[in-house]
Amino acid sequence: MDKANAPHKLNFDTSWEYAEAPESTDHIEIKKQYGLFIAGEFVPPKKGKYFDTINPATEKVLAKVAQSDASDIDRAVKAARHAYDTHWSKMKAAERGKYIYRIARIIQERAREFAVIESLDGGKPIRESRDVDIPLAAAHFFYSAGWADKIDYAFPCRTPAPLGVAGQIIPWNFPLLMAAWKIAPALACGNTVVLKPAETTPLTALKLAEVIQDAGLPPGVVNIVTGDGATGAAIVDHGDIDKIAFTGSTDVGRVIQKALAGTEKKYTLELGGKAANIIFADAAIDQAVEGIVNAIFFNQGHVCCAGSRLLVQESVAEEVIAKLKDRMQTLIVGDPLDKNTDIGAINSAAQLERINAYLDLGKKEGAAMYQTNSKTPDKGYWCRPTLFTDVAQSHRVVREEIFGPVLAIQTFRTLDEAVTKANNTQYGLSGGVWTDKGAKIFKVGSKIRAGVIWANTFNKFDPTSPFGGYKESGVGREGGMHGLSAYLKLQ
Ligand code: NAI
Ligand code: MG
Repeated sequence: MDKANAPHKLNFDTSWEYAEAPESTDHIEIKKQYGLFIAGEFVPPKKGKYFDTINPATEKVLAKVAQSDASDIDRAVKAARHAYDTHWSKMKAAERGKYIYRIARIIQERAREFAVIESLDGGKPIRESRDVDIPLAAAHFFYSAGWADKIDYAFPCRTPAPLGVAGQIIPWNFPLLMAAWKIAPALACGNTVVLKPAETTPLTALKLAEVIQDAGLPPGVVNIVTGDGATGAAIVDHGDIDKIAFTGSTDVGRVIQKALAGTEKKYTLELGGKAANIIFADAAIDQAVEGIVNAIFFNQGHVCCAGSRLLVQESVAEEVIAKLKDRMQTLIVGDPLDKNTDIGAINSAAQLERINAYLDLGKKEGAAMYQTNSKTPDKGYWCRPTLFTDVAQSHRVVREEIFGPVLAIQTFRTLDEAVTKANNTQYGLSGGVWTDKGAKIFKVGSKIRAGVIWANTFNKFDPTSPFGGYKESGVGREGGMHGLSAYLKLQ
């Protein structure tokens, strides 16, 4: 057994277990098969091809979903253009706002259904989909709805106008929330959209299509098409799209940026991250330990802004790591629908394979790996919370986005050393700082090149706050007024 995995004394008793508390699925309706949502109705894909979306906790098929090709995308873009020309861009802004409010309210009313489907299709714990994803998705629609009739006054001395048709491609880590981030500001600004959810998590976007029908939006204002990377590429390449909004891997972001070079399409790209969470010796250590758990184990570490690097001041490193290991042992890995679960299923077999490859790599690179010994179910894709110590800056587990519940821990002595290490990355999406001293927060916050810095907290989101990256973490901002301006021509 390596040093990092040696048993250590727990400060509290973890021998007792929680009784199971599964969320009911009785009130959930998932159809056997979904078509594409184009011009206000569900239609079959032209070529008649479908693929399965599964529950990553059971590996069982939940539904069949349409695989769209370039001809389907063309239909969706034509519907969006028609709705833009004939309805949406001409409608009074206050009227547009009313439709967006209606979407927000229906999401709130159907929140339980959305939360359960999100956990079934993507593997995230019900506590998170119920308390984070779905309320935040509704909040984004409410926030943008409020802006709809004020946009003319939001940018002094400028005349805002919509861009036209937006193509939006989203990932699998926050499916409904990412759809809301993309659709709500686009609609508020007067654009129409063609949105593609990720292939492993299409169901809440398709449920959102039902909400959009119920809200009575003019046909074609929102079109939802499903498919894989080739479908995404067909959206990017379509000649009648005015703006591309993408969230996903840096590799695909690069491909999209190349495809858009030399075109008139506007774009925003929200890509990967390798955020440093910095713990100073004067921080409230117990709170900081909770913060570390939230920063990297939240949503199985499937978070672009996860605090996947921990930088801890040398004098408290031993204490922080010991407390962190104790806390990790209490984290429950398992059924996403159980309200006790802390860490749900890894989103797909491919993602689990990627994470496991990094675990092997970390060991090969000479790091010490610590993993909890909690039980995991027999079926499904699982990864127990893991940390690496004895790592060097050159190790790939320190440099690359793993997108799993895996933390790399380094130490530092001075503030400057912490900042240098934090900035020694190709990414720049987020960061965290834990200290008792306000001045230190401002000093570190101003020196770290990242879009968001959390102080004495982590992974807090709000529709009013712009979000986006420096360096290879992306281009442009989403959320707040910055997010609106990304869907406008400001003349
Ligand atoms: P991905 O970047 O391939 O997928 C994201 C979305 O892009 C999906 O909807 C996918 O269908 C679409 N897509 C794929 N290829 C495309 C193309 N050529 N043109 C247009 N759209 C395309 O991410 P993937 O493969 O699922 O995950 C790989 C890694 O990416 C993860 O391990 C993680 O490190 C990172 N990732 C980062 C995310 C973030 O929020 N920053 C989200 C998802 C993944
Ligand atoms: Mg799925």
